[in-house]
Amino acid sequence: MNTFGYFDDTNREFVINNPATPFPWINYLGNEDFFGLISNTAGGYAFYKDAKFRRITRYQYNDVPMDNGGRYFYINDDGTVWNPGWKPCKTPLDSYECRHGLNYTRITGVKNGIKASVLFFVPLNTWAEVQKLTIENTTGKKKSIKLFTYTEWCLWNAATDMENFQRNLSTGEVEIEGGTIYHKTEYKERRNHYAFYAVTNTDVNGYDTDRETFVGLYNELSQPQCVMNGKSTNSLAHGWSPIASHYFEITLEPGEKRDLIFLLGYVENDHNEKFSTEDIRRKRNGEIISSQNSDVTLVNKEKAHKMINRFSNVKAVDDAFTELKSMWDKLLSVFVVNSGDERLDRMVNIWNQYQCMITFNFSRSASFFESGVGRGMGFRDSNQDLVGFVHQIPARARQRIIDIASTQFPDGGCYHQYQPLTKRGNNDIGGGFNDDPCWLIFGTVAYIKESGDLSILNEMVPFDNQPGSEVTLMEHLKISFDHVVNNLGPHKLPLIGRADWNDCLNLNCFSWDPNESFQTTENKSEGSKAESIMIAGLFVFCGKQYVELCKHINNFEEADRAQLYIDNMIDAVKQFGWDGEWFLRAYDFFGNKIGTKENDEGKIFIESQGFCTMAGIGLEDGMVDSALDACKRHLDTPHGMVLNNPAFTKYYVEMGEISSYPAGYKENAGIFCHNNPWVIIGETVARRGNDAWSHYTKICPAWIQDQLLHKVEPYVYCQMVAGKDAAKPGEGKNSWLTGTAAWNWLAITQYILGIKPTFDGLEIDPCIPSSMREYKIRRVYQNAIFDISVKNPNGRQSGIKQITVDGTPVTGNIIKAEPGHHLVEVLM
Ligand code: BGC
Ligand code: NOJ
Repeated sequence: MNTFGYFDDTNREFVINNPATPFPWINYLGNEDFFGLISNTAGGYAFYKDAKFRRITRYQYNDVPMDNGGRYFYINDDGTVWNPGWKPCKTPLDSYECRHGLNYTRITGVKNGIKASVLFFVPLNTWAEVQKLTIENTTGKKKSIKLFTYTEWCLWNAATDMENFQRNLSTGEVEIEGGTIYHKTEYKERRNHYAFYAVTNTDVNGYDTDRETFVGLYNELSQPQCVMNGKSTNSLAHGWSPIASHYFEITLEPGEKRDLIFLLGYVENDHNEKFSTEDIRRKRNGEIISSQNSDVTLVNKEKAHKMINRFSNVKAVDDAFTELKSMWDKLLSVFVVNSGDERLDRMVNIWNQYQCMITFNFSRSASFFESGVGRGMGFRDSNQDLVGFVHQIPARARQRIIDIASTQFPDGGCYHQYQPLTKRGNNDIGGGFNDDPCWLIFGTVAYIKESGDLSILNEMVPFDNQPGSEVTLMEHLKISFDHVVNNLGPHKLPLIGRADWNDCLNLNCFSWDPNESFQTTENKSEGSKAESIMIAGLFVFCGKQYVELCKHINNFEEADRAQLYIDNMIDAVKQFGWDGEWFLRAYDFFGNKIGTKENDEGKIFIESQGFCTMAGIGLEDGMVDSALDACKRHLDTPHGMVLNNPAFTKYYVEMGEISSYPAGYKENAGIFCHNNPWVIIGETVARRGNDAWSHYTKICPAWIQDQLLHKVEPYVYCQMVAGKDAAKPGEGKNSWLTGTAAWNWLAITQYILGIKPTFDGLEIDPCIPSSMREYKIRRVYQNAIFDISVKNPNGRQSGIKQITVDGTPVTGNIIKAEPGHHLVEVLM
């Protein structure tokens, strides 16, 4: 029913077999510095490190038609013009397939006996995207075709590129050297970087670098005039919109196959090595063509030449591709489940892990819903994202923690976001989100439990990146903890500040002006009584981890001090944060309750249920079970749990942005997938494996049946699925960049399957559906490799009868990371 593709688990690919997907279904290329977004029709763009400040190619967001701009190959076969990825021409293909794999995409189209297949990927440690086009004549006759490439340059700053036309339309500059087109706008002045698009293994028959000449001012990308005329014009861009297009006349014998290699690259040169004097001579004899008459600004091409030479033959490309695949083999070998349920296995072994790596790299910056210009790296987001991949590359998590902590202030508060290129806090958004500091504890503890590396606590880390202000990371954790303690309200619950995890619950904002942003407008905090029960739960949850850490490093005094505050917080929640059947959400500016049955709308919210149950607050008094039952009664739907219920139908100025969204969307009763795993984990605290599982499968991509309704990529989590009050419940939006990935990874691996890193070893504590009778897990942990086999012959949901390691029974349920390979048998 309504499918556009399927999983190929053996190759770790999602295969799309109809190009007209309900929304562009994208993938990510690159995993360190050079990145690309690519849709199933080859739309998207490339950037270096920062999608705002170093945008390499241009893409039109939210355009008509959808998904405009990318890396296009046009084939003119005797007047029939088509693209292997269907778009932009949309000429019906005889066959089409897009395979999204791990950091690569392969798109294949067949038309009139010509088969064209393009493999896109970014080789490891390389600042370039490789495009390997394989073109084959499958007919019995000789064929002559004309091939054009097309990509449009972005003038570096993706924000001004979209608005400052009085400047932009005059600045574009290029250079051409054989089959390489250089984009060098602003290079002659302050920039020390340029980009290039090269064909590395074939001569060109022509090129174009001016968009208007290539496409035609009133043409669409589906009918570029050069392609339609079957000839390039060798146009030279002077301002306006520079592009890069190669032209080839190709004749293929019957059955003949050819590989063409393209490289879209980025180069930085030292300021004193920016220009080439040698090229002045080459320009004079016509080897180089430049937008500028002046000779002194010819780009130093040495680094580009190196890259081009490196990828000038198919073997080098294939080797680089094998290297990328081996990297993923290695990353995915750290945690492997074999459960007998292919949906669970493909999520855990492939797609959930892959998405975690993508969110780690991109935070919330660049997707088909995040324009790459709006947001940098979130303080809370990055701390949460890192728990999703710390088992794969602990060293990168370590660096990320230091970067994040460096944007903190001496009082424990912090910048809400920072820019990846500069690593500096973002002044536009500032700070004051009172949940932020807790997440640093969360991220750091997860790192230490995985790696065992306590040395990170002694790293000297500055405040607000100011040299000279450094204190140890441990001190940063302490002030993070104390930031909550020092900002309590009248009920001894945490003051919410600008907002807590829910950016849209703006209790001190009182905005009536549509021209101001809820996120940044000046808050009325004088005299505010706005307190957050979500932060209270978060504080207890992370605070317990902080206490554990203090004990682990023998700082018992600090552990005792902290424990006291945690106990007080638990008391405050029980006394002032309980509504009888579930946890309240907050108190507003005036001290009125939010998330109570006394209200008409927004009687119950998911965040405080999730965090207070995860923290086990009131477990012994039945509060946890009762709150979880309330979630099932009021929030659950076939597509997951909504954020609040009933949805807000009018604007409440005292609550802010949350009530600005139409009912059923986003933070107003959308299924905000990020917080579903909090309740799932809460269910495991209550030892209710069947309920945890039911919630897990409802939002899990591998369980999606109706790909048309779901709309966005069925292989990754999305931030939001329309809730029960929406026009089309079940319709997904904002796929890819969401904390949902990391949290579901935690929920399934640590809390349901129950393999949990601790300071002392791996804890084994399954909380599974009673129908799950056995599963196996390979877990590489520090110096140990564990092959764990869990048996549940009596269909229990939790509880362990016996664990043996290499045949010897162990007491308790923690297995030590002794070096070597161990067989672990678990009987429930
Ligand atoms: C979105 C939030 C987001 C916030 C800050 C809101 O409109 O709904 O999800 O975190 O803006 O950009
Ligand atoms: C998305 C933001 O990135 C995240 O920080 C926030 O917690 C959620 N939206 C909920 O508002």
